[in-house]
Parts: sequence; C-alpha cells; structure tokens
Amino acid sequence: MSVTVTYFGHAAFTLSDGTHTVAIDPFFSGNPLAEAAGLTKESINPTHIALTHGHVDHVGDTLEIATRCSSQVIGAFEICEWVAEQGYEAVNPGNPGGRFDTDFGWIAFTQAFHSSSYEGRYMGMPCGLVVNLGGKTIYHAGDTGLFSDMALIGELYTPDLAILPIGDRFTMGPEHASRAAEMIKPGLTVPCHFGTWDLIDVDPSRFAPKGIPVKVLEVGGSFELT
Ligand code: NI
Ligand code: MN
Repeated sequence: MSVTVTYFGHAAFTLSDGTHTVAIDPFFSGNPLAEAAGLTKESINPTHIALTHGHVDHVGDTLEIATRCSSQVIGAFEICEWVAEQGYEAVNPGNPGGRFDTDFGWIAFTQAFHSSSYEGRYMGMPCGLVVNLGGKTIYHAGDTGLFSDMALIGELYTPDLAILPIGDRFTMGPEHASRAAEMIKPGLTVPCHFGTWDLIDVDPSRFAPKGIPVKVLEVGGSFELT
C-alpha cells in the first residue's frame, strides 16, 4: 500500500490512500507560497481535515473546505468546539496522548511546544499528529520547539515519514529539526514551515539529519510514500 503526500506550502499537506484524503493544516488564502503556485482552497477535496493547532496559518480555510467537501474535522477539543459553534458539526476531537481509530486507519495526538489561539480565543493545546493510512504512518510535528520525547514518539509510532518545521523563530530551526529527525528515526523526513515569510526564510539545505533521508518538496509537489 502507498500514500500520496502533497505539499501546499507552509505546513499544509494532503495524505491520500486513493480513497481517503487527509488534509493537514489547509492554509491557502493568505499563504504566499500556495498563492504563488496558483493553489487555492478549491485545489483539494479532503475527506478529513486534521489540525495541529488553532493559529490562523494552520486553521486556514478549514471551514470553507469542510463545508464544500463534507470533510470530518479532527483537532484539539477546543478547536472542534469552535468549529461546531461556527455551525459545522462533523468534528472529531482529541488531545495529546490520545489515539483513535478512523475510517482510514487511526490518528494520534502528540505534544508540541508552542501556543494555540484564534482571534484571541484559546484553542487548547497545540499538537503534533500521527496519521496512519494506506498502511503508512506519518508524523506531522505541527509547530513546535525541539523536545527529547520526540525519541519516544519515534519509538511508539515508528513513522515512515516525519514532517518537521524548520523555519526557526516560531518553531525549530533547521539544526534543531535535524536533531529531531535523528531522534525520531523516520524512514524519510520532509521539512516545512519555512520560506513563507521573511521571518521564517531559512535555507532548507541546513536541514541535514545524520542518517535520515530528506526530501524537500516543491510547493504543489507530491510523491508516493511506499
Ligand atoms: Ni503556530
Ligand atoms: Mn505556524
């Protein structure tokens, strides 16, 4: 089995097994990388939308996409509460440490060291997400600083792919992200959350974990995880 991984710039990805498509942090409107590549909120048709945290550059176009595609929205308890208050009821909440089965496989929430709010409202704990679909396991760390329990996340979930932020300032920079990948020990790692704005404009060649293959995706680019 395989999974198609597609990158939309910043922290936005889709993971698809051909039947189910999980969009993570679908930020299109106002995302300079997506806009430069001609990608919009109409570019994806996810069955599920999973959110790492409540910041606007991660919630992005969730409500519009979910409404158009009838996607199930997965996220922290407080994010799901907010989504439901907006009139969209198909939510599936969790919190760090939790795992639950889904119709594509399962999803787990990990800790992330960051903050989480939307228009001034508390949005619960920021999270990383571990998504199992198509027989593959993908860890999207969300926005986070480096923490040594990433080694435990690697041990518990043995991810085939780790998607890690490298843009520095708000998250790990490339050197810390390299240490993260070395602790997680995934089969492959993909950097994200860099180059979107000047504040997080780092050279991805600085992301060079020892012994872990790195794939830097073009915005709009995809590959098969086999
Ligand atoms: Ni954030
Ligand atoms: Mn962010």
